[in-house]
Amino acid sequence: MPQSVKEIKTKLEKYEQEHLFAFWEQLEHAEKKSLIEQIEMIDFALIEQFKNLVTKEHLAYDPEELAPAPFFPLDRTPEQQDKAKKARDKGCALLKEGKIGAIMVAGGQGSRLGFDAPKGAFPVGPVSERTLFQYHFENIVALEKKMRQPIPLYIMTSKMNHQDTRKFLQKHDYFSKDKQTIHFFQQGMLPAFDENGKIILADKGSIALSPDGHGGLLNALKHNQLFEQMEKQGLEYLYYFQVDNVLVNICDPEFVGMHILDNCDMSAKTCAKREPFEKLGNIGIMDGKYVTIEYTELTDKDKTDQKKDGRLKYEQGSIAIHTFDIEFIRSIAESKDGLPLHLAHKKIPCVDEEGKPITPKSPNGYKLEQFIFDAFPFADTVLVMETDREKEFSPIKNAQGNDSPKKARQDLSNYFAAWFEELGIHVPRDDSGNSKFSIEISPLYAQDAAELGEKLPSGFEINDNLLLE
Ligand code: UD1
Repeated sequence: MPQSVKEIKTKLEKYEQEHLFAFWEQLEHAEKKSLIEQIEMIDFALIEQFKNLVTKEHLAYDPEELAPAPFFPLDRTPEQQDKAKKARDKGCALLKEGKIGAIMVAGGQGSRLGFDAPKGAFPVGPVSERTLFQYHFENIVALEKKMRQPIPLYIMTSKMNHQDTRKFLQKHDYFSKDKQTIHFFQQGMLPAFDENGKIILADKGSIALSPDGHGGLLNALKHNQLFEQMEKQGLEYLYYFQVDNVLVNICDPEFVGMHILDNCDMSAKTCAKREPFEKLGNIGIMDGKYVTIEYTELTDKDKTDQKKDGRLKYEQGSIAIHTFDIEFIRSIAESKDGLPLHLAHKKIPCVDEEGKPITPKSPNGYKLEQFIFDAFPFADTVLVMETDREKEFSPIKNAQGNDSPKKARQDLSNYFAAWFEELGIHVPRDDSGNSKFSIEISPLYAQDAAELGEKLPSGFEINDNLLLE
């Protein structure tokens, strides 16, 4: 029930947040209404949580207590190869039974990339400028055809990009995926706090809000009754991935199958880090529980320490691909505390005491976020599986350098080049081993070298940029 202005004022005083009403008298009727709505959305218990977090001497972990997590390696013994084969069969069987869904997190703001639209709309195809969304959708559609079974796709957006994402996909007719099998939902927003625990006003009549992190997925699934929907659909497992990874192998049957054979609650894919300081999460074991320690939190010593064989102690990095038992994440979402909050110290546009806008030059406050990988400690059984970066991981995060669009385009060309080489077709490469020509293959044309081989005419040669679709 809407609260009266008086009730709201009393509540704000109780939580020492009465400054949110500082410009009340100057607001138009519609602005007042909107401010009230924003205040009503705030979970005031957050304030206490924030104060606890900000005053805590924050060390994410005790290096003495953390050990790297064991993982199922890429370089496999004959027994492990056998197990992987069984896993693939299991994964395919469950895909055919319709028990596996995909979930894509696409609510981020892509600020590092500097792209002013949903990240999924970023053109990445080295020849055709196919977007990230098109790759992901076509990959799923191709798999659906192979499995003769629709694969429900859940897409998490945020207030910042929900409408634009829907419009973009609608405009492209969902890249031929059946609309009935696509489910959009929005993650929540959380207020930002200044150093003194006061909620920040973005302008006279609105609160500084930001998306609640990809861990907000659990609350969003709960609040939108999507767990119930998944149950009705007969789904049991979710394949989780980030929109930014152009090489993601969505619903990889081997990974899901392995998760099931090992009876896991949650699984993660990793790859060998490029260098000790690569910005990837690190999966470890602490107090008998799996945890992810972010690159921002792992100590430099732990980043650079080596094992006897000269490999890094924490040699694997998380590529943010998971399989979840739906029941497992549902139980976390429905638990009292849910996932913990993390603080990010940021420059947050705000107003001064007179209500004049300020664009801070240094961090002036904190955004709050939940991370999906904090589900690990809730799990009894976990699988960590190593994969090949060249086949499964090329994210677009930065405008330049590593993890940039230029790098992703080259990675895609190299990825497809390797298929031709597997088929005995020569691909010209430069001194760094990169394909000299841009090569792009739509997942609807072929999803692997074997499928490609069935379609190519004999005597096929590569002597120019190439697009197959
Ligand atoms: C992330 C992981 C890191 C992992 C790396 C692999 C975090 C904190 N760290 O790093 O452990 O090794 O990816 O690429 O995530 N997103 C939302 N809503 C949000 C925030 C993010 O949907 O509120 C989505 C983004 O759209 C994106 C993904 O989550 O698809 C990752 O977010 P990003 O902030 O780019 O994470 P990284 O720091 O790159």
